[in-house]
Amino acid sequence: MRHWLAILLSFAGVAPGGAAEGFMPPDESLYAMGRFVYERNCLVCHGRWGDGDGELAKGMIPKPRKFSAGIFKYRTTPAGALPTDEDLTRTIRGGRANTSMPYFTQLSDREVRAVVEFIKFFSPRWRKPENYAAPVKLPEPPAWLDAEAAPRAAQGRATFTLVCTPCHGAQADGKGPAVAGLKDAWGDPAQPADLRSPAFRNGRTPPDIFRVLTLGIHGTPMPSFAEALTAEQRWELAAFISTLRPPETAKK
Ligand code: HEC
Ligand code: HEC
Repeated sequence: MRHWLAILLSFAGVAPGGAAEGFMPPDESLYAMGRFVYERNCLVCHGRWGDGDGELAKGMIPKPRKFSAGIFKYRTTPAGALPTDEDLTRTIRGGRANTSMPYFTQLSDREVRAVVEFIKFFSPRWRKPENYAAPVKLPEPPAWLDAEAAPRAAQGRATFTLVCTPCHGAQADGKGPAVAGLKDAWGDPAQPADLRSPAFRNGRTPPDIFRVLTLGIHGTPMPSFAEALTAEQRWELAAFISTLRPPETAKK
């Protein structure tokens, strides 16, 4: 039913999903540009209706994001809230390490803005003000991070063993005992990150890791530890994880 409606609406030149609820794009030319950019660059993976089932999506791990579900991993906003335009832009401009999400440096700023607006038409979550939130203001890294990180990293290792190993494994290789049966919000198997990897999807600097530990990764089993751990403990974990390296390079 939904698809029939969407096909009819697409002949009328209206966004899928959007018009079904009487919504008209506010800026026709930006909308047209966004649609053009999407069809040329994103559709092969993210799919005609933003369902993450484009031609290239088959067998891809993780799968291309299903924009129609309106759930996003890469945010500076509180757990559960929609990402900001800057968050979406960062993903599109920079790509995401260890995934098939490519980086798009050849698009103009206006083209990126247009496609950011366009992908919002796929989910009604973008039409509800209560799903929006401002970025969470995170504290500055503590001074000890540069000067005296080693004893704090050892503290972080102890916390890691206690709290994180069920999923991330004792070797931090993402192979903990709780992994079997873990699912993400899109119904696919969820794979905890290999924290010895040279590149992280969310970035590998201590502030990047602190942000992930504070906000969690929406749509995946990776929780927010804003309540369960103090800020100090989260910085210690960030310091510890920064010391991890792939086994090959660690040996040298
Ligand atoms: C070759 C396949 C491919 C193409 C082409 C592609 N993507 Fe992606 N994209 C992915 C995959 C795979 C992910 C999931 C990454 C993950 O789960 O960490 C993703 C994730 C994203 C996300 C992150 C959503 C979140 O959860 O925060 C955004 C935004 C995005 N893509 C936008 C785009 C846009 C816009 C284009 C076109 C300009 C595009 N993508 C083209 C494969 C692709
Ligand atoms: C319930 C299982 C679970 C627990 C417990 C857990 N994680 Fe995760 N973690 C995950 C999953 C799943 C992902 C991958 C999310 C995704 O799909 O991108 C992840 C991702 C991450 C990332 C992001 C890696 C990247 O590529 O950007 C970091 C950092 C991380 N976890 C650290 C930790 C730390 C530190 C702890 C303990 C305080 C912890 N996690 C506890 C499941 C878990």
